[in-house]
Amino acid sequence: MCGIVGYNGKEKNTLHILIDGLKALEYRGYDSSGIAFKTDKIETIKSIGKISELESKIDFTTNSNTGIGHTRWATHGKVTTSNSHPHTVGKVTIVHNGIIENFNEIKKELLNKNYKFKSETDTEVACALIDYYYNKTNDIKKALTLFSDKVRGSYALGIMVENDNNIYAIRKDSPLIIAKNETGNFIASDAIAVSKYADEIMYLEENQIAEVSKDSITLYDKDLKEVKTNFKNIDKSLENTDKCGFDHYMLKEIHEQPKVFRDTVSPYLENNIDSLLETMPDFTKYNRIDIVACGSAYHAGLVGKNLIEEYADVPVNVEVASEYRYKKNFYDDKTLVILVSQSGETADTLAALRKAKNDNIDTLAIVNVENSTIARESEILLKIRAGREIAVATTKAYSAQVAMLSLIALNLASRKGNIDNNEMIEILKDIKELPVKLENLIDKEDYKTIAEAIRDKEDIFFIGRGIDYAMSMEGSLKLKEISYINSNAYAAGELKHGTISLVEDGTPVIGILTEEFLKEKTISNVEEVKSRGATTIGIINSDSNYNFDYKVEIPKVHKLLQPLLTVVPLQLIAYEVAKLRNCDIDKPKNLAKSVTVE
Ligand code: F6R
Repeated sequence: MCGIVGYNGKEKNTLHILIDGLKALEYRGYDSSGIAFKTDKIETIKSIGKISELESKIDFTTNSNTGIGHTRWATHGKVTTSNSHPHTVGKVTIVHNGIIENFNEIKKELLNKNYKFKSETDTEVACALIDYYYNKTNDIKKALTLFSDKVRGSYALGIMVENDNNIYAIRKDSPLIIAKNETGNFIASDAIAVSKYADEIMYLEENQIAEVSKDSITLYDKDLKEVKTNFKNIDKSLENTDKCGFDHYMLKEIHEQPKVFRDTVSPYLENNIDSLLETMPDFTKYNRIDIVACGSAYHAGLVGKNLIEEYADVPVNVEVASEYRYKKNFYDDKTLVILVSQSGETADTLAALRKAKNDNIDTLAIVNVENSTIARESEILLKIRAGREIAVATTKAYSAQVAMLSLIALNLASRKGNIDNNEMIEILKDIKELPVKLENLIDKEDYKTIAEAIRDKEDIFFIGRGIDYAMSMEGSLKLKEISYINSNAYAAGELKHGTISLVEDGTPVIGILTEEFLKEKTISNVEEVKSRGATTIGIINSDSNYNFDYKVEIPKVHKLLQPLLTVVPLQLIAYEVAKLRNCDIDKPKNLAKSVTVE
């Protein structure tokens, strides 16, 4: 999703700083980019496509101390240079992340005031509105407060004004950081954009205004009263974006899963269950759990539901955040709302968190990015330790989310006395051995052969029951998002209620069979598609004996841990298919890593 970077300082190589920042933000997903910088005037250069296209238009010998840059992920208006940011109207130039919801009505008002527009974007309207208020007040900070009173929606803005040497920033419901080093100051939509240069960082709060000069940063609240800054050292490890010899970040991140599992679990669970009970809060007072998330994080929630309901006897309601935030929710003071998010910035998940908090419901976040908005605003934080995930399609963060939900199930089940000693010994043994099992599974050769069988197909089905249905949903999403093959996940028993009419000769059907007491049922459903000509692919435990056209055997472990193994073949089949189809695996078309608009 869109990214912002800005610099104001003593260095004259602002153009390099901006481009480095934009490159670091590439992982979020974008379709055009641009920069605006000060020489004796404000100059703007924009381009559609990759940042290399923008770079080719820039004369890097130009000296400038001040500038803002942007990667755009189109929301309002097509991918064109005129729709790209920065936008300039009158004396004001801005870059914007977010969506101005009432931009149409504001545009009409501004057209009546003789403003003219060159783009189809809400951002240009925001820019014109700021210019309008600036002309009225002759004070940019006042203009920004009037702007925030007028607009509905979300925004993180970087702003430059004609004949003013500062840059300004303001945000609402869209993240923005400010940062500094000895020679200058930065704004950015995340720390990664400036970690190469900056030493200290802080997060701008809602509707705060930052006035960023060459040698100081001053913060103001909505009433333009000065507020204190609170800088912390920046995490320099963010800079490390080496692929370590892998062809793609996605593959590297799949390979990191054994380590991520260890890193995520070990702060809570060492050699015995007591360590878990000491480090993870007691959730037994809750008689209902709502898990709220988007995309793969939602799928992780579905796995969590299966495990928590089965082992802890607590009903779990899993919902997509974009729905949950607007519906009637039947929660009370015995409900725990769990928000699951890799980025910690997903707009809908954040809105669901705020809604629950507003209704005085207890909230817990499972988040990867420390200091993200969801991590900061939730009451309880269980941090997963996936490290930085660069590939847009999540792999290791999904696994870490599942691992954390498994720990929550184990924590609850253990406190409730639902797991006897022998079973606990088995679980602890499996936890210890899981990283090696993951490594062996990742290194298998089967995925390429299966990918060859799928690469030219137009429709694929994933089927499973119980937790295997939740895994089917993740497998199907992974495949479609990076290979662009239409795939659908179905509860295996549901197929014959309509969908089976789509199965014909050679249609691939991937059956997931790890649920012990449901396996035979799913096998019957695989038989049904086989009779209609389907090519069958089984993801099965080593002890299941059934004749598929292709199969991947995965080790059998305790059910609390099984999904962590099941997902590996699903990720690697998707990866190999996308590779055969020459897709841009790490940056699939139209997708963004951090979805900060609803
Ligand atoms: C799919 C994927 C997305 C994210 C979703 C939520 O591979 O990555 O579906 O899972 O956008 O993102 P987070 O977890 O950052 O809230």
